[in-house]
Amino acid sequence: MPPFSHSSKLTSTAGTASSPYSKSNDLLLSYITTKLATMPQPQPPRALSAGSAGGGGGGSSSNGRALPEDMQRWVVRWDELQLEAPIGQGSFGWVYKGVWNETQVAVKVLIQSGQVEEGGGIELPDEVMQELLEEAVVMSHIRSSHCVNFLGICMVPPCIVLEYCAQGSLFGLLHRARHEPDLARQLSWSRRLQMALDAATGMLYLHRRTPPIIHCDLKSPNLLVDENWRVKVTDFNLSKTVKPAGEASVGEVASNPLWLAPEIFRGEKPTAASDVFAFAVVCYELLTWRLPWAGETLFKIPRRMLSGERPAIPPPAELPGADAGPLVGLETYIALIQKCWAAEPGDRPTFAEIVPKLRELVNAAGQQLAGLWRLPRATVFCVSLWQAFDWHVRGRR
Ligand SMILES: Nc1ncnc2c1ncn2[C@@H]1O[C@H](COP(=O)(O)OP(=O)(O)OP(=O)(O)O)[C@@H](O)[C@H]1O
Ligand SMILES: [Mg+2]
Repeated sequence: MPPFSHSSKLTSTAGTASSPYSKSNDLLLSYITTKLATMPQPQPPRALSAGSAGGGGGGSSSNGRALPEDMQRWVVRWDELQLEAPIGQGSFGWVYKGVWNETQVAVKVLIQSGQVEEGGGIELPDEVMQELLEEAVVMSHIRSSHCVNFLGICMVPPCIVLEYCAQGSLFGLLHRARHEPDLARQLSWSRRLQMALDAATGMLYLHRRTPPIIHCDLKSPNLLVDENWRVKVTDFNLSKTVKPAGEASVGEVASNPLWLAPEIFRGEKPTAASDVFAFAVVCYELLTWRLPWAGETLFKIPRRMLSGERPAIPPPAELPGADAGPLVGLETYIALIQKCWAAEPGDRPTFAEIVPKLRELVNAAGQQLAGLWRLPRATVFCVSLWQAFDWHVRGRR
């Protein structure tokens, strides 16, 4: 059950033309309000002042346990959040656009539709809450302009408050660009190269943490785009700080095969190199504005990948986009994709190698743009010179 009468995984949603969104019709929000009204007021949390509790979601976890000390400073109360409209749905629940302390935010409400349909509670089971807290701890340590900032966590109902990225997911943006010529025009090749560079820089930041953070679920829906077209990495729900062996724990693997490296299909653990493989698929999406393996059934993809097959890269004439002339550095870009999705993890470059390569491409594309600007200006200058000369000669006659 969606919070409102429309739903599609992977599609941003804030009402439809036939039925505009209205908060009073939002079943999820009404459900939360009803449940909160019937819940006993939470006890003041042990290490927080009494004033910071109440309204649902104080500093104690849903089962009354105190939060780990480094999380207490991140606690947000439900009544501090003004939710505006749902903007997306993921496997953990709905994402809303909202305002918190006069700041635009995104709020991930971690309540499943089934929970509401069955009239269940709005608190998470202990072990799930534990996972959520772990995710929050990882996110609260991330400070990069190439990663979506974690702003806080609400315990009841369980929510994560995140920096708001006005243009939604990269997946949604590329999907919309296929049908919206205005948007397609804005997604120039040089801008898309910059987007790839942003994502790679965010990943480099994660991999360079001590201990390194392996994302494990890098994909275009987990790359968000802000109002300035900057791309940021998000969703560390599957990421884990790497154990000393250099691998994430078993069982932390994303389930969508489109971005998964072949070694994951063989049952190996995710590593920094499997994130690089996922990045290759994102670069493929930035080039083609499509998901790979179009028309193929999901369960057949692993076999094709394991046999060494890779998504087909269309010839230049079939690539989408409104760029005039050939795409600068296209061959290098395609060669980079091919290196990043190499069968052997050891043959893939690291993000420390990918970032400078992409920066070179961004610079080359930028220079071409500057050249295009120079041309008309030079023409305008010559015409003006000629006009001045003509005016001068005529004046003398
Ligand atoms: N911080 C944010 N700012 C703006 N939009 C967001 C934000 N976070 C999520 N969204 C929107 O909500 C959608 C759903 O996000 P969510 O992370 O819950 O699901 P997902 O990434 O599609 O799948 P998964 O459950 O595997 O993470 C995104 O695709 C995006 O459109
Ligand atoms: Mg996500």
